[in-house]
Amino acid sequence: MAASAAAAGDGAPKSGERSDHIRVFLRVRPTRRPSGFFGLDEESGSVRFDVPPDAAGLMGPNNTRSQYDFRFDGLFGMTARQEDVFERVAGPAVANALAGYNATIFAYGQTGSGKTFTITGGPQRYEDRGIIPRALQRIFQQCDASRKAGGQATVWISYLEVYNEVGYDLLEDSATGGHSRAGTVPGTKALEELPRVTVREDEYGNVHLGNLSLHRAESEEEALNLLFQGDTNRAICETAMNPVSSRSHCVFTISLEQREEGSPVVRRSKLHLVDLAGSERVHKTGATGSLFREATHINSSLLALRRVIDSLHERSVRRGAARQHTHVPYRDSTITSVLRDSLGGNCKTAVVATVSGEASNTDESISTCRFAQGVARIRNEACVNLETDPAVLVARLKEQVRLLQIEKDYAAGEAGSEAEIDEEERARVAAQAVAWAKAGPEDARPPEDAPMPDLGGLSLPRIREGFRALRELARAAAAGAAAGGGGGGDSKAGAAASAEAVAELRDMKHTLAQRNHEIAALVSIARDLREKLRAGGGGGGAHPGASGAGGHSERRPVAPGEAFAPAAAAAAAHADADAGARLPSGETLPWQLLDDRDASRDRFKAAYPRRQQLRDLKQALADKYAEAKQGAGLINRARGRVVELKAAVEELRVRRAMQALADSEAAGSDGTPAATADSAPSEAETGLLVEMEEQQKRYTSAFARLRELKGEIEYTRKLLEAGSVRMQSEFEAWFAQALLERRTRLTSATTPRRHEHAAGMAAPDRAFAPSATGGAGAGAGAQAGAGGGGETDDVARFYAARDQLLKLTGGGARR
Ligand SMILES: Nc1ncnc2c1ncn2[C@@H]1O[C@H](COP(=O)(O)OP(=O)(O)OP(=O)(O)O)[C@@H](O)[C@H]1O
Ligand SMILES: [Mg+2]
Repeated sequence: MAASAAAAGDGAPKSGERSDHIRVFLRVRPTRRPSGFFGLDEESGSVRFDVPPDAAGLMGPNNTRSQYDFRFDGLFGMTARQEDVFERVAGPAVANALAGYNATIFAYGQTGSGKTFTITGGPQRYEDRGIIPRALQRIFQQCDASRKAGGQATVWISYLEVYNEVGYDLLEDSATGGHSRAGTVPGTKALEELPRVTVREDEYGNVHLGNLSLHRAESEEEALNLLFQGDTNRAICETAMNPVSSRSHCVFTISLEQREEGSPVVRRSKLHLVDLAGSERVHKTGATGSLFREATHINSSLLALRRVIDSLHERSVRRGAARQHTHVPYRDSTITSVLRDSLGGNCKTAVVATVSGEASNTDESISTCRFAQGVARIRNEACVNLETDPAVLVARLKEQVRLLQIEKDYAAGEAGSEAEIDEEERARVAAQAVAWAKAGPEDARPPEDAPMPDLGGLSLPRIREGFRALRELARAAAAGAAAGGGGGGDSKAGAAASAEAVAELRDMKHTLAQRNHEIAALVSIARDLREKLRAGGGGGGAHPGASGAGGHSERRPVAPGEAFAPAAAAAAAHADADAGARLPSGETLPWQLLDDRDASRDRFKAAYPRRQQLRDLKQALADKYAEAKQGAGLINRARGRVVELKAAVEELRVRRAMQALADSEAAGSDGTPAATADSAPSEAETGLLVEMEEQQKRYTSAFARLRELKGEIEYTRKLLEAGSVRMQSEFEAWFAQALLERRTRLTSATTPRRHEHAAGMAAPDRAFAPSATGGAGAGAGAQAGAGGGGETDDVARFYAARDQLLKLTGGGARR
C-alpha cells in the first residue's frame, strides 16, 4: 500500500520540506443502509472490505477475492463533521498556501458519494459549509492579521468548469450580460454561453488558462459572493443541460500574493479546490445518447488521470535517464493539463476519496480506494514561490544611493558646513523626523534596513533639530503612558482614574455606535431578504442568476420517486397524457392550468421536493436573527450596567478618599496616627468590582457571538437565495417542458402521423434543454428531415411550435 502515515492536522509546513507524498483521506457518506462489508480503524487509517460469498456478485463476474485492505492518511466515518474534515485535510493546505506553497485538494468518488458536500458544502445548513468557504474564512483572517502588521496580501478567485473536455469560466457573465440568450428557457442557461477557457502549455511546461477571469476579492464576503455566483451558474447550466448530469469537473482557485512590510520579496501561491466528476463506470450508469457521450468523456478524462498517476509512479521507481524519459501523459485530457502541477509537480496535494456505504456501491467504493492508493504513491516537489518585486528593489537601491551620496558628501566635508537653518527648514526637518518615527505599525520594531529620515542633508543643525523633535515625541509618549496607567487612593490617582473612566466611556460610546451600525445592517439584510422572498414568489421574467446569488449543485441520479426533471416529466406526461402535466410530487396539473403561469408556479412550488429544505433555511435564518436581537439586547444591558457600576465605584472611592482626609486631619489634631481607611476598599466596593468584571465578560462573549452570527446570517441568507434561484430555474425548465408536451398532445390528437415525431422529440434523451439544443433541436430536425418524404413539414411545424413556445416563455425565437 501506500500512504505514509501522515502527521495529520499539523498546520504549518516544515521548513526544508521538498518532496512529499500526496496525502490521501477516505470519507464515507452517511447512509441508512450501510452494507456492513467494510470496517474502518481510524487510529491506523486502515480500511478492510470483507465481501461475503453470497454478495460476490456485487464485485463483477470474474471476481474471486473477498477481502481488500487499504490504508489512508486519515479516515472520516459517517459521523465525521465538516469542521473536522476541514481541520485535518484543508487546514495544512491553507497553511501551506499562506506560506507560499501551491496546494491542491481534490475530491474523487462515485456520483452521490459526497464530493461536492466535502469541497463546497451542503445546501441546507451553515454547519454544512465545506472546504471552500472555510478556507476563505481562514485565509482572510490571516491576510487581515498580516495587513495589520504592515504587510500586503492580495487574494484573487477563479472558478473553472470542465465539461466534455472543454473549459468554461463560471465567473464571467459578460458574454450574455448575466442573462440567458434568446432561445434558451428563462432561468436556465447553456454552458456554451459561458466563456470558453483555453489550456495552453508553454515551452517550460507551464500551463496557462486563457480567458479564465481572475477576480480580486477584498474580503471574505466578496470571495463568498464569487463562490455562490459560480455555483449558481453551475446549477443553472445543469438544469438546462440535464439534471441527471454530474459529469463536469470544477476547479475553484484562490491565488495569493503576499509581501511583508518593506520587503521586496513577494510570495505567490495558489490553492486549487477540485470537485471531480463522478467516477462510476459507464456500464453502471445505464447512460445512453448524449448522456453516454458525457459519460465516456468523463470516463476518458478520469482514465487519463489514472494513466498520469501510473506514469508518475513508474517515473518515481526508475533511475537516471529512464526516469527522465518517462512520459507522463498530462496532455491527454483537459483536467490533467489543468492539474499538471498538482500531480507530481510544484504543489502540496491532498485527495479526499469519497464512498457511499451501501452494498450496491461496494465495487465502486473498492475501486475508489484503489485509485487513492495509486495517488498516495506520487511524490510532489513543492517549493515556496518567492519572487522579488523589481519596483520595491529599485526604490531600495535608490535609497541606498542617496545615503551613500550623503555619506560621501559628509566625508568630503561638503555637507557639514551649514551653520544655521531657518525656521521653515527647522519645521520641515522636525516633521520629517516625526513622520519617520511614526511610520509603520505601532508595535513593530523598524527593520534594520528601514530607510533613513530625509532631513535634507546631514549638517549639524539638521541633526540637532531632528533629535530635538524625536525627544519631544518621546516625552509626549512617556507623559501619555503615565496618564494612562496609575490608579490608587490619593487625589492625583483619583484624577487619573477618572480620566481613565472618561476615556473608557468614550470607547464605549464608539463601540455602541459601531454596534448600532451592525444592528442596522442586520435589520436591512432582513428587510432585503423579506422583499426578495416576496418578489421571488411573484416574479417570473427576471433571470434569477442576475441577482448574483449562488446555489450549490447537488447532482445525483434522480430516483424514480423524485423524478421531476423535464425529461422525466415528459416521459411521465406520456403515461397520463390526457390528465395533464406531471408535478415533481407525482400529482398531475390539468393542462389548462398551464395558461396561468403564476398558478402553475404555485403548484410546482407546493410539490417541490426541496421545499422543506428551503423552509428549514428560512427557519434557521429567523432563529439567527432572533438570537442576534437577543444578543444585541444583552450587550446593551451589560454595557449599561458597567457604566452604572463604574459610577458607583467612583462615588465610593471619592467617599473613601474624603474619609481618609478627614481621618488624617483628626489624627493631626489629637496626635494619634490616621487610620489607613484609604488603602483597603470596602466590601461593597469589592462586590461592585466583581460584578463589573462579570458584566464585562458577559459583554465580551455576547459581542463575539454577535460577530459570529453576522457571518452565519450572511451565509445562510446566501444558501436560501441559492435555493430559491435553483427552484425558480427548475420551475422554468419544467414549465417549458410541460407547455411543449401539451402542444405535442394537442397536435397529435388531430394528426396521428405527427404524433410519432413529436413524441420522439420529447424523448428523455433529448429533453427540452435549450442550451444543448441550439444543436440538439436542430439535429433532431435534420434527422427527421433526412428520414423520408413529407417530413420537412414536420420539421417546419417543430420550429413553429418551438418559436411559439419560446414566445410563451418569454425566450424569443432562434433558429
Ligand atoms: N457527509 C455527508 N453528510 C450529510 N449529507 C451528505 C454527506 N455527503 C453527501 N451528502 C448528501 O448526499 C447527496 C450527494 O452528495 P454530493 O452532491 O456531494 O455528491 P457528489 O459526489 O458531489 O455527486 P456528483 O458526482 O453527482 O456530483 C447530497 O444531498 C449531499 O448533501
Ligand atoms: Mg457533485
